[in-house]
Amino acid sequence: MYYPVSRPRRLRRTAGIRRLVRETDLCASDFILPLFVTHGQRVKNAVSAMPGVFQLSVDNILREAEECLELGIPGVLLFGLPAYKDEKGSSACDPDEAVQRAVTAIKKEYPQVLVITDVCLCEYTSHGHCGLIEDGDVKNDPTLNLLARTALSHARAGADIVAPSDMMDGRVGAIRGALDEHGFQHIPIMSYAVKYASAFYGPFREAAGATPQFGDRRSYQMDPANLREALKEVEQDLAEGADIIIVKPALAYLDVVRAVKDHTNVPVACYNVSGEFSLVKAAAQNGWIDEKKVAMEMLTGMKRAGADMIITYYAKDAAGWLKEEGR
Ligand code: PBG
Repeated sequence: MYYPVSRPRRLRRTAGIRRLVRETDLCASDFILPLFVTHGQRVKNAVSAMPGVFQLSVDNILREAEECLELGIPGVLLFGLPAYKDEKGSSACDPDEAVQRAVTAIKKEYPQVLVITDVCLCEYTSHGHCGLIEDGDVKNDPTLNLLARTALSHARAGADIVAPSDMMDGRVGAIRGALDEHGFQHIPIMSYAVKYASAFYGPFREAAGATPQFGDRRSYQMDPANLREALKEVEQDLAEGADIIIVKPALAYLDVVRAVKDHTNVPVACYNVSGEFSLVKAAAQNGWIDEKKVAMEMLTGMKRAGADMIITYYAKDAAGWLKEEGR
């Protein structure tokens, strides 16, 4: 008779033992909740492709901030639906715009809630691209100043962290320079250093009203096939002064999350994007999967891959589930 020498099953036998030897633990403080801010009052527009996600006016954004506080979620990431759009995305740095107002309102009402702002032009340009267009192409250098002004307007409104997501070369340096010049040396930059040209952003474009009116984003966002290029982007952004690195999307890029984590000594975030969220929602609504288990397994995988924090539309649900389980 043969008896196995090693029996890994011994450490899986009871919930207590499994908990004791668990290598990765999720907690509410891992999450950042993305929110879509719009003008008006008591506005709560459902985003059809993202069940449970809404475009919210500032008064309702405050309710979300309050919930985050109750659930132990450290912060929110704000995207804006501006009152007007033009070729240059002028509304991105308008101090009266939805994002700037929401930042100020949250910091006044709930100063403990971290407010991170997405810095990009695509929600603010009439053409829906993340930079200025000249001769049918997204121009890099003329865009930098607009991004820097946008980040500065967020800092002036009270943002704790700015998060550039446009993928122009040199934007972290440009934003750092502008912030430092105006007394915001203490505001960290959370850079979407590694952002792929991904079809997983589909539902977000409905939520944020930021669909390119022509072409696509492949001349500025990364090719999904590339990993070494991700490390180049990270090195460049760190050299320009980035404090936190974001890898986006998350699910199909967990190898990238791991590589960035091993390659750097700064905090690494991953963005569990709209399409990843909607896939789970749709399958759950059809009764094909167990939503809670699948969502938690995905989030655990992201953390195991090396993410120190996860930007996720599941933040409130996941924090609630953890609370229910006393974790
Ligand atoms: C804007 C931006 C996008 C996302 C975050 N910031 C869309 C895009 O680049 O097309 C996607 C977020 C998501 O899908 O949840 N540059």
